[in-house]
Amino acid sequence: MQRIEVGVLGATGMVGQHFIRFLENHPWFDFTWAGASDRSAGRKYSDATNWRLDGALPASAAGLTVQECKPGNAPRLIFSAMDASVATEIEQAFAAAGHTVVSNSKNHRMEPDVPLLVPEVNANHLASLATQSRLRGWKGRIVTNPNCSTVVLTMALGPLKRFGITRVVATTMQAISGAGYPGVASMDITANVVPFIGGEEEKMQQETQKILGEWNGDRFEPLAATVSAHCNRVPVVDGHTVTVSVELLEKPGEAALIEAMNAFRGLPQERKLPSAPEQPVIYLDAPDRPQPRRDTNREKGMAVFTGRLRACPVLGYKFVALGHNTVRGAAGAAVLNAELMLSEGLLER
Ligand SMILES: NC(=O)c1ccc[n+]([C@@H]2O[C@H](COP(=O)([O-])OP(=O)(O)OC[C@H]3O[C@@H](n4cnc5c(N)ncnc54)[C@H](OP(=O)(O)O)[C@@H]3O)[C@@H](O)[C@H]2O)c1
Repeated sequence: MQRIEVGVLGATGMVGQHFIRFLENHPWFDFTWAGASDRSAGRKYSDATNWRLDGALPASAAGLTVQECKPGNAPRLIFSAMDASVATEIEQAFAAAGHTVVSNSKNHRMEPDVPLLVPEVNANHLASLATQSRLRGWKGRIVTNPNCSTVVLTMALGPLKRFGITRVVATTMQAISGAGYPGVASMDITANVVPFIGGEEEKMQQETQKILGEWNGDRFEPLAATVSAHCNRVPVVDGHTVTVSVELLEKPGEAALIEAMNAFRGLPQERKLPSAPEQPVIYLDAPDRPQPRRDTNREKGMAVFTGRLRACPVLGYKFVALGHNTVRGAAGAAVLNAELMLSEGLLER
């Protein structure tokens, strides 16, 4: 199988580093191009970057010369971990020049012609790319992955969609790694809970409705459910925990919902995409699981773990969900999106 060269916009940043680590030894993709600001451009990647992840900086990245974020000499497939203040213009410039931009940034997620993908849940939203191409006149395209807490919620709700979701209340306990580097001040987060993450609740509510909604051939129809999110930062390093209360039109027994979660599969599993977990949603029977320290890194961080499904006196059902925010919620999500696009024939080898 011919390998594909890939680049990363914002490669020197925290999310960029997660991309580089996730792409190391990828069976299809070769990371060959790093883009960053003009503060870094022209320097060796190892000099321009403070490597802040566990383990050594991958050799594939260390010797690369960082490039300006301008289309021209970059590979056709580009992952974006761009700073949100500049992502809109830069990602659009790459798409206009014929690149496929698989973005982790928030900037284009809610655009009416941009797919916001969780491949197990809404792979068919890729059909919106035809409209994007017609409306924008780009030779390339932009696809996005959700916010790191939204992905945990939508993976857990995906199996329940067929029962008719009408109302959701989700409360997050989000890890500090989701805030980038240096993130939340240690004086604020040590032995504490910060009940505010700017813009997060709005993103979680809107993105969930788009992801669980339908592409009708012309536009996205959001899921006709009310979603309320409470977002909190907690002193956990990796792994976002979400407690969820959900109201369903149908009233299946709790065992049927657990069975739906465990049996849930999507195109990534059917096609055995390299980064796809064998079982995307794993229900844990123990009464005190999932827990971030014990479960976040299982399944290479690509599965979502659920547990404690029980009756909710307000909305009918409640449960807990956990996912790896920098893997399934960031770099791993985008790489899985690109694998899905390749398997759909949407990327050239
Ligand atoms: N899904 C998630 O869990 C998650 C979590 C955090 C962030 N994000 C999103 O991911 C993106 C990156 O976040 P981060 O925490 O990695 O940020 P970061 O560490 O500050 O990195 C930002 C990157 O953008 C580059 N950059 C900044 N200004 C630029 C410019 N004018 N032109 C070209 N490149 C520029 C930086 O290059 P230099 O090193 O040269 O400055 C760096 O590579 C943001 O959009 C953020 O919203 C997602």
